[in-house]
Amino acid sequence: MGSGPSNPEPRVLQAMAAPAAPPEGPIHRAVLDEVAQFGRAVFQTTTGSVVTVAGASRAGIEAGLASLIRPGDRVLVGVYGHFGELLCTLAARHGALLERVDAQWGAPVDVDAMVNRVRHTQPRLVAIVHADTSTGILQPLAAIGQACRESGALFLVDAVLSLGGCEVDVESWQIDVCVAGLQKCLGGPPGQALVTMSERARGAVAGRERPSASAYLDLAALDATWRGRRHSEAAAVAMPMLFAAREALHMVADEGLAARWQRHAQASAALRAGLEAMGLELFAERQQRVPMITLVRVPPGIDEAGVRMQLLDEHGIEIMAAFGPLRGQVWRIGTMGTNACSPSVLSVLGGLDAVLASRGFKLPRGAGVDAALRTWRSELLSASGPDAP
Ligand SMILES: Cc1ncc(COP(=O)(O)O)c(C=O)c1O
Repeated sequence: MGSGPSNPEPRVLQAMAAPAAPPEGPIHRAVLDEVAQFGRAVFQTTTGSVVTVAGASRAGIEAGLASLIRPGDRVLVGVYGHFGELLCTLAARHGALLERVDAQWGAPVDVDAMVNRVRHTQPRLVAIVHADTSTGILQPLAAIGQACRESGALFLVDAVLSLGGCEVDVESWQIDVCVAGLQKCLGGPPGQALVTMSERARGAVAGRERPSASAYLDLAALDATWRGRRHSEAAAVAMPMLFAAREALHMVADEGLAARWQRHAQASAALRAGLEAMGLELFAERQQRVPMITLVRVPPGIDEAGVRMQLLDEHGIEIMAAFGPLRGQVWRIGTMGTNACSPSVLSVLGGLDAVLASRGFKLPRGAGVDAALRTWRSELLSASGPDAP
């Protein structure tokens, strides 16, 4: 229950064991088509293309940046945590003339500041993280997307944490390249990036005078392969990962996007009610928090790493430390994918209750689990409406 990878769904792991289908055969084609079709639904785009990139999520992000940036292009990045810094590092590697709008760790980037910079500096590309796992903060995107469209900038978004756990609306937020991984709220393993591209982005990557510096992380080539125009340089496909992507996206479709977002919201609401009832303090403003990871402050005098190790050793539950300016100050508890459920939430609260009490932290024993249960019940009742039993 850390910051992801989260435990994959058993159904996804099982799907990965299917025998690999030969490239260009009908089974292979059908899998690509299904991943693209389900992927479009999850990204909420009717016209975008979807491709996968075999590699960590950042391979998908780097493919987007490498394919869109021409050396010397002005690129504006919004930074409010570690993964915004990653966008800057990768963009700079591909020759960007970097501009940035920063926020302190614990708040999103100011939307008006971002919009003004888009209007005044006219970048070729604007890049930002939707939900930064290092801070647990959610970034509003619609107005930035609108400003990009008006000024002619391309808009790239890292939705690695958010896709499948809360609303990501690629079409109405006017996102040109949106990247996710399977390993957070989609309930899959790490090692496969999902990328969607708008018509504008496809035009931009296909219409380059000089091809991008990366031959492997080239969205134009990947797009051609996924559209059935396989070229001789196409890499071998990581079939188990493709099967994982299909199954994970299938599971989202089975559950329904809105129901899945609601499950993530309910799990974090229950967890947060429980943590507060134990006398712990949550990080950041309530309305800016993401619904799939919870940052909670380490109480004074409590050994941050010691609690995590004891929770793992005695209860088999792993939560995460923080890094950067938050190192040693907060724990990060994920409720992603299969862990956005009441047994996982109650287990982590019960485990923390025992571990903190054993270390002398004064807390009302059992209050965390009680508060989480009460919150879960009221969340379920309000979700099912006035006719609920
Ligand atoms: C928001 C966000 N972006 C990008 C990444 C990078 O993912 P990967 O390590 O799979 O490259 C992560 C990983 O935690 C993330 O949380």
